[in-house]
Amino acid sequence: MATRNLLATSNTVKLNGVSFSSSFTDKPNRYLARCWAQTTSSRRVQTACYYRETSLKAVTSLERPEVETDTNCDGIGIVRFLKGKSYLVTGATGFLAKVLIEKMLREGPEIGKIFLLMRSKDQESANKRLYFEIIRSDLFKLLKQMHGSSYETFMKSKLIPVIGDIGEDNLGIEPEIADMISEEIDVIISCGGRTTFDDRYDSALSVNALGPNRLLSFGKECKKLKLFLHFSTAYVTGKNEGLVLETPLCIGENITSDLNIESELKLASEAVRKFHGREKTNKLKELGFERAQHYGWDNSYTFTKAMGETIINSNRGDLPVVIIRPSIIESSYKEPFPGWIQGIRMVDPIIVGYYGKGQISGFWADSKSLLDITPVDMLVNAAITAMAKHGCGVPELKVYTVTSSSHANPLRFGELMDLSYQHLRDSPMENTEIDLAPMKYHSSLESFTSSLSNKMKRKEGESHISTMSDKQKRRLKYLVSMARIYKPYMFFQARFDDTNTTSLMHEMSMEERKMFEFNTKDIDWKHYIANVHLPGLKKQFFQG
Ligand SMILES: NC(=O)c1ccc[n+]([C@@H]2O[C@H](COP(=O)([O-])OP(=O)(O)OC[C@H]3O[C@@H](n4cnc5c(N)ncnc54)[C@H](OP(=O)(O)O)[C@@H]3O)[C@@H](O)[C@H]2O)c1
Repeated sequence: MATRNLLATSNTVKLNGVSFSSSFTDKPNRYLARCWAQTTSSRRVQTACYYRETSLKAVTSLERPEVETDTNCDGIGIVRFLKGKSYLVTGATGFLAKVLIEKMLREGPEIGKIFLLMRSKDQESANKRLYFEIIRSDLFKLLKQMHGSSYETFMKSKLIPVIGDIGEDNLGIEPEIADMISEEIDVIISCGGRTTFDDRYDSALSVNALGPNRLLSFGKECKKLKLFLHFSTAYVTGKNEGLVLETPLCIGENITSDLNIESELKLASEAVRKFHGREKTNKLKELGFERAQHYGWDNSYTFTKAMGETIINSNRGDLPVVIIRPSIIESSYKEPFPGWIQGIRMVDPIIVGYYGKGQISGFWADSKSLLDITPVDMLVNAAITAMAKHGCGVPELKVYTVTSSSHANPLRFGELMDLSYQHLRDSPMENTEIDLAPMKYHSSLESFTSSLSNKMKRKEGESHISTMSDKQKRRLKYLVSMARIYKPYMFFQARFDDTNTTSLMHEMSMEERKMFEFNTKDIDWKHYIANVHLPGLKKQFFQG
């Protein structure tokens, strides 16, 4: 989330095998990659060590009853549901969908086919994407062990790459292929999306607002479709404080009736025609930000995801729909092994890319803000459980929020940074020799900017900002824009209601709860950040 969904983006830049996918679009990613390659006290500042002082304190109490374990409960029948069914998944080359596919194949070896819609110029490159980005991914090593020498045959028998683009009419799928898939699939899983926070308005509208509807229309053509499952985001309501409910979004009800999606599309197309050359992208990004702010969202990402939800809600007809709203998705807690992550996302660039490398010593943030992280494996388990529960064809729309701040032990930004400080002090980033100090928290952008420019000048021995090198100026500009984009998440005080998600847990059998665990209340943050997430991030940085 941050610069994108607290910063996840599909526009990765690879350097030495490491994927940089902080939520900015091309430039920022390349910038972060460059910073990485170069390895190696200011006003109104609050210093760290927040974790030890205040850990586990909740500002807004959201106590939920313990999840009762009914030993006689038959459960939902998750494994039974997976068996023999076929699926269409979008976003399969992305972080979340890969973990989802891995779990479905591991727990449901008798699953039918999983069609993977992916952007590719031809079938050969789609096959290559399947092979190099999925089948050969380290993520699947448990499956590899399970299937031994028949692993690749198993994977190729289950995973079918389909060329497509959710931003295009008819999903960009060849008509004969679309016809064939429509005969076979039982469930559509909508994972694909543009996850850059400061995205171009036209692109975000086309993919995040209209893309899910294109999939939904296709779903209506599918003869035996039982469920349409869509991944949205917990930040879709645009609220930064109070309680965010698990209610479907509807223009005129919980979204202002002033919002007219047709007019927004028109506005974006006019801007596409009006601007040219190098200014075009910037103007379209600015437009996205302005329109989002105008209607009460933080950025074009969450705004267009909200539009996507409203369109699904109004066009679903009698198709059963599940909307999953995750918070910031981070590395796996346990499965298939702890610490797996794809790309450097959300606040990760701040931690390992800048703070851990000594390039920043503070950030524009409130140490007490709720950083709502959900490990990707818990999210996947919740999604598969919801799929099994609602895949029986009842025509309703159900929203599940999968987050961690709904419980009494939410993680706060200060706690995360204190744990990161302790970890990076004891085991610094490779090739880094710095005397790491606890993170400082700037309460204003001015304070952050001035502290950062002073630090840069001290480092380079310059006395005036005007004499900074172009490289320094670009870095300063980038970090300031990053701080601006992350701001809503660095001062975030809302809590997410997860009544539906908790109820879902109640319906699981004991065995299902072990196999598909998603009680975020059980997360041991100290263990997760220090022993799982940060080591996972470092591995990702160095090994790609
Ligand atoms: N990551 C988070 O923290 C987070 C939090 C809340 C919700 N979510 C939601 O979860 C979903 C998955 O997120 P993620 O983190 O896995 O994202 P990701 O790693 O950035 O992956 C995005 C996926 O979407 C695909 N995609 C993008 N544009 C497409 C298009 N026009 N047509 C077809 N596919 C397209 C990408 O394909 P290419 O490989 O071709 O680019 C990629 O496979 C998204 O809907 C996101 O909004 C994510």
